[in-house]
Amino acid sequence: MAICAFGAENIVTVDPATVVSEASPDLWGIFFEDIDLSLDGGVYAEMVRNRSFEDFEGRKNELTLEFWNPVGNAEYFLSEKKNAHANDRHCVTVRGKRGAGIANEGYFGMGVRKGAEYNFTMAVRGDFATAEVSLEAYGKPTIAKATIDGVSGDEWKTVTAKLVANDSDPQCRLVIRLAPAPIGGRKIHEAQIDHVSLFPADAVAGLFRRDLVEKLAALKPSFLRFPGGCWVEGDTMKEAYRWKKTIGDMWERRTQWNIWKYWSTNGVGFHEYLLLCEALGAKPLFCINVGMSHKETVPMDKMGEFVQDALDCIEYANGPVDSKWGSVRAAAGHPEPFGLKYLEIGNENGGKAYEERYALMAKAVREKHPEIQLVFDNWKETKRVDDPKDLRDDHFYDTPDAMMGELAHEYDSAKGDFSIFVGEYAVVADTHRYGSLRAAIGEAAFMLGLERNQSQVKLAAYAPLFANAQHTVWTPNMIYPTTDGCFVNPSWNVQKLFSENRGKDVLKVSVSTDTFETRTGKPWNKGKFNHTIECVQASAMRAADGSLILKLVNCTETPQDVQINGIAGEATRTVFTGPSRDAHNSPAEPDALKEESAPFTLSGRDTLPPLSLVIYVRPTH
Ligand code: AHR
Repeated sequence: MAICAFGAENIVTVDPATVVSEASPDLWGIFFEDIDLSLDGGVYAEMVRNRSFEDFEGRKNELTLEFWNPVGNAEYFLSEKKNAHANDRHCVTVRGKRGAGIANEGYFGMGVRKGAEYNFTMAVRGDFATAEVSLEAYGKPTIAKATIDGVSGDEWKTVTAKLVANDSDPQCRLVIRLAPAPIGGRKIHEAQIDHVSLFPADAVAGLFRRDLVEKLAALKPSFLRFPGGCWVEGDTMKEAYRWKKTIGDMWERRTQWNIWKYWSTNGVGFHEYLLLCEALGAKPLFCINVGMSHKETVPMDKMGEFVQDALDCIEYANGPVDSKWGSVRAAAGHPEPFGLKYLEIGNENGGKAYEERYALMAKAVREKHPEIQLVFDNWKETKRVDDPKDLRDDHFYDTPDAMMGELAHEYDSAKGDFSIFVGEYAVVADTHRYGSLRAAIGEAAFMLGLERNQSQVKLAAYAPLFANAQHTVWTPNMIYPTTDGCFVNPSWNVQKLFSENRGKDVLKVSVSTDTFETRTGKPWNKGKFNHTIECVQASAMRAADGSLILKLVNCTETPQDVQINGIAGEATRTVFTGPSRDAHNSPAEPDALKEESAPFTLSGRDTLPPLSLVIYVRPTH
């Protein structure tokens, strides 16, 4: 039964003289898992799919030519290369006459922008003389074209071309047509092709889609946890994430079945994740496998290489250029250290097996690298480990009601003598597949609870960050890349507003408000649960420059009158809300929901719109 009627009295009292605790400078960060084509097909700007002909069909032991088609009556088939690296043994053979070739459809089509440049490369050998490379869209004249001469020869050679788009289209394909020398006659020619790649010339660090990096940069993340998630564990140890297999020559990295149902290139490996952290100014938080997958556990007497992996990843990221792994980093083009600060050992691992393996790896890291902040999993029976200095990673996936209700107060009483990293949280039920206003407002109420309790909660990240809009095994996600743009879940706006409005000190704030009761199902659990939700919720902080920041959330679907005490004067008021509880963005309407800021005089009263996050910033006078 909803009480919280419009006109009921809500009283928010800020006490600027009472500092509850220091705020955590790194509180708001992001969690990047290679989930749902968020890397290949998402942030990684590579436009060609199955680019090195090393993709297998699902989990089967069969290579596939998926995402490629023949053109010009070509015969095409997979071939083995002689004396090639074990991870790079295959290529495609193309046989035919003038105009024979292959075409790649990319990740649900290739989005190109008029005037933009694209860098093409491929490895080729055989007796065709030239290659014509083009971007083509259904029903349109060719959008970009380049001719590459001198592709013939017995030895492999890498050829390049620049393609400039004369039109925009969200669904191009890349076509490679081959031609013999003019005197080639009617003979059947043959070429082998490998390592086909197409990147937008404006990719950040030559690797990442600029529009998506901009969406991340707007979140001003303090840290970036990577690369998972379940992706770190894999279903089996063979599929577990092992960072050493993701570095070095791009074409010699193992390609790998991803637990989220696609083939991953590892084109963004450990090194490139660190580059992304650097581009965003975010501290790296690497989550390393602890010798446990979903189905298997490495025996304790075989854990040596996992311990070594943990020590070596720190040396790779931070070690001097004359150290073993620091020199590998330098050879990859980054002599400066990356400043790895956080190391999480395991993801959602728990119980005795986890505690033993965590203790082993953590001891080795603590001894050699006391400067690294370790993170352990709160999963199943494991609630804490032996060292109170380590951060505990808590995960919450729930309903809007639970977030607004009991979870908003999860940290009001201390969990123990250690600090907390809320490593994954999101509303995942009772919401649209692209998220919804009410879900985002539920998360905002939960986040107020994290802000109020920064004496214990030090880091937090929404999950998951990205999903290609065409491949959503997990829903919802924060940002949805399409082939030529993206749209965001309303949770993105909430994340951005919390990150933009951080404090230095947490201030005492009290709220007198009504409550209402709901009963909803919990994801992954049978049955319904009761929730008691406070209509209006708050957090208050003082920023480093002395400004006062008050955040209020209206959890109801009616406007709420609020009496605001303890903070007055000229301020900025930012409101995030929407037309209905289910309001969300979509590919057709990517900008349906937006926050609005305006000057505002804090003089004791305000009315909060239904389902809203309202932030007042009152500068020092
Ligand atoms: O964020 C999606 C998944 O949820 C992560 O892979 C896993 O850690 C959690 O169960």
